[in-house]
Amino acid sequence: MQQFGCGSCHRIPGVRAARGNVGPPLERFAQQVYVAGLLPNTPAALARFIAEPQAVSPGSAMPDLGVEAAQARDIAAYLLSPR
Ligand code: HEC
Repeated sequence: MQQFGCGSCHRIPGVRAARGNVGPPLERFAQQVYVAGLLPNTPAALARFIAEPQAVSPGSAMPDLGVEAAQARDIAAYLLSPR
């Protein structure tokens, strides 16, 4: 997440300097019902949104960042892990 600059827009616990306030804070994500207010919050749906937010939610303020599918799965697993 450091590599993709997620933290310039999001607050993410455990990621250094992730203090952005452009997007919603990504804390306690496992307790959230929807991803981006659209998809039921499952690991696969979360990974899909992270990899291609513009395809999932056209016009979303979250840009496509070129995250590969495998990387998106790892990021989703991290965000959904209990912390
Ligand atoms: C340029 C700012 C920006 C960057 C960089 C960015 N995001 Fe976002 N993100 C947003 C905005 C704005 C939203 C809210 C829009 C939406 O939900 O469609 C969002 C929404 C999200 C959501 C859904 C949040 C929710 O509460 O449902 C997740 C998950 C997410 N981003 C993860 C990431 C990850 C992981 C990265 C890095 C790979 C990243 N974002 C990089 C701006 C950004």
